[in-house]
Amino acid sequence: MKHLSRLAVVPLLGAALAGCAGTPHTFLDPYSSVAREQANLYWIILWMAVAVFVLVEGLLLYNILRFRAKKGDDSLPPQIYGHVTLEAVWTGIPVLLVAMLFFFAVTTVNAISAPAKAASDVNVRVVGHQWWWEYQYPDFNNFKTANDLHVPVGANVHITMISKDVIHSFWIPQLSGKTDVIPGQVNSLWFRAEKEGEFFGQCAEFCGLNHANMKIKVIVQSQADFDAWAANQMLPPAAPVTDQQQEAVKIITTGLCKGCHTLGDSVGAQDIGPNLNHLMSRSTFAGAMFPLNEDNLARWLKDPQAMKPHNDMIIKLKKEEIDALLSYLLTLK
Ligand code: CUA
Repeated sequence: MKHLSRLAVVPLLGAALAGCAGTPHTFLDPYSSVAREQANLYWIILWMAVAVFVLVEGLLLYNILRFRAKKGDDSLPPQIYGHVTLEAVWTGIPVLLVAMLFFFAVTTVNAISAPAKAASDVNVRVVGHQWWWEYQYPDFNNFKTANDLHVPVGANVHITMISKDVIHSFWIPQLSGKTDVIPGQVNSLWFRAEKEGEFFGQCAEFCGLNHANMKIKVIVQSQADFDAWAANQMLPPAAPVTDQQQEAVKIITTGLCKGCHTLGDSVGAQDIGPNLNHLMSRSTFAGAMFPLNEDNLARWLKDPQAMKPHNDMIIKLKKEEIDALLSYLLTLK
């Protein structure tokens, strides 16, 4: 029984490690040239460090065992102070290693520098907020969306970043390295996604209590799907049909929601909270913390602080207001 349970640890450990390898937050499974170059540099540095470790520790162990002081032998080992050859060797090797690291780092920096912009490229302006990401598409009437970042597969995506409040860091491990998002400073990065699908990222700079809940979801899609999505985002929001929906528009554009959210061009664009024009075209909300569906949206309107404590939505809505808002928000495809 005892050795059985010990045996069971092996597959469990294997499963745990496999789970780690499968996590989407790894830069070691890259899907863009930028991420691949960065991963390659990591492997080069890692294996150089492993070689140095094995060599140095090996020599250390060998010498400890081989040249142990024998009983009764008080004589000093041969002194090598000022030995020119040895001094040259153990100065030369580290200098060579550092020079190699410098060479590989510079080569990588050159390899990942942004290519010249072309007409087919996609530009995205990222705005960091406590605690969610806003995306603006200047090539498409500058529409604004949040949480889900859409990009076409195979296109060069140029991202410029600013912050509304504190320092954040934009990081999609499988597509690109971290870049700080700093108030009053425009930083940039670029990548070209090689595969359609969903990729996940995370704010990588402590930016307040919800730092961990400032997630990024990237949807890489075919050019046709991206174009269709962008065309829809540029449309005005759905018009309210029922009385209840008209009531909702009133609450959004003149009532409680007005101070933070934008709908169409009817509100003073505070952009404290996400633009609501095509809310339900997004798959997530609240910093990509939750799937966006009717149940979650209803829970959110009822008590946003319970779902994401410390977020800026500190209003209390009445039951009939929530019902009205839901009846309209769910139509914003
Ligand atoms: Cu934004 Cu951490």
